[in-house]
Amino acid sequence: MADTPRITALIVAAGKGERAGGGIPKQYRRIRGKAVLRHAIEPLRRHDAIADIRIVIGEGQQALYEAAIEGVALPAPVVGGATRQQSVRNGLEAIDRDGGADLVLIHDAARPFLPAEVVDRLIAACSAHDGAIPAIAVTDSLARADGATVAREDFVQVQTPQAFRFDAILAAHRGWEGERTATDDAEIARAAGYDIDLVDGDKELKKLTFEDDFAGHGAIPEFRVGTGFDVHAFAAGDHVWLGGVRIPHERGLSGHSDADVALHALTDAILGALGEGDIGSHFPPGDPQWKNADSSLFLSRAAEIAAGRGLEIGNLDVTIICESPRIGPHREAMRDRIAAILGIEPERLSIKGTTTERLGFAGRGEGVAAQAVATLRSGV
Ligand code: CTP
Ligand code: MG
Repeated sequence: MADTPRITALIVAAGKGERAGGGIPKQYRRIRGKAVLRHAIEPLRRHDAIADIRIVIGEGQQALYEAAIEGVALPAPVVGGATRQQSVRNGLEAIDRDGGADLVLIHDAARPFLPAEVVDRLIAACSAHDGAIPAIAVTDSLARADGATVAREDFVQVQTPQAFRFDAILAAHRGWEGERTATDDAEIARAAGYDIDLVDGDKELKKLTFEDDFAGHGAIPEFRVGTGFDVHAFAAGDHVWLGGVRIPHERGLSGHSDADVALHALTDAILGALGEGDIGSHFPPGDPQWKNADSSLFLSRAAEIAAGRGLEIGNLDVTIICESPRIGPHREAMRDRIAAILGIEPERLSIKGTTTERLGFAGRGEGVAAQAVATLRSGV
């Protein structure tokens, strides 16, 4: 190994976090405003000895991942597998394809608080061993499930990051293929005959496994608000679309799509809460595929983007501004329709109609305006 080893940190974040529950996988839940994964990355980024960081994420977690690492430049994430072992393997193979490393520190995203001293101890131990893992003493009495007490001094609790010579752990993982799933990477390394040292771990490194483990860490739900506004002019026609409902009227509304101002304002409110541009940037009015489009497509797409980011609709409030048609008689139908488009309870929706006392373009009957507010929240 070179005097100054090239060290890569490999963070596995491809799990589903089923035991922790909540709306999104635990590594994307926020603690003190930052995703658990982001916390896990920070101490490794700050550590001078670590040259590269690779992250393994689950299939379909791209949007959650991007929101979690916003503002941090990292190589493209690697897609993980069905087990942690497979996710680590995929990460090691990706590092190998990109030129390898001298040492690799394999770390769980679910351990967000990593003291730098643990990293120092691991790296130091690797100068004399094939690998090193952090461990802490068992403090509670230990017993077998049948009741027989065992000597707790014989046991330690093993944590991550686990550090290895890169070539050794890669060979060990490749050699393990076809057998049962290992409990951790140290087991895989030892089975291949490598010499793995124990260094002192740290209580802070505890893995977040259950909902309770988040308590006291200031886990806060993400909460976002957006607003939307839209206007369409009246034109010749015999009906208008408002709030997803077809309303017979002596004139129609002109627009590239079905000109449903209420759904457009709501779509913009959701996109606004997401910081995702506006309806025109997602569905350009010049694009023929949106000609006469049913605006429910725009609204459901905005909700899909939110869901991909682990956010659900808290509530929506829209005000439709026009002299005619009257909104009141259609309010409940609009509410039911919008709730159905979004798959939410109608109670989360409010639809209001107002005139402008015959003032301005709406008052002169030249068109219809709508303004909306949306709140989005994470599932914590
Ligand atoms: N992990 C992974 N790929 C998997 C399973 C787990 O990368 N197929 C990662 C997790 O994201 C986590 C670490 O391995 O950072 C430790 O696993 P664990 O605590 O078991 O997390 P989950 O598998 O996500 O949780 P659960 O077992 O409760 O579903
Ligand atoms: Mg698991």
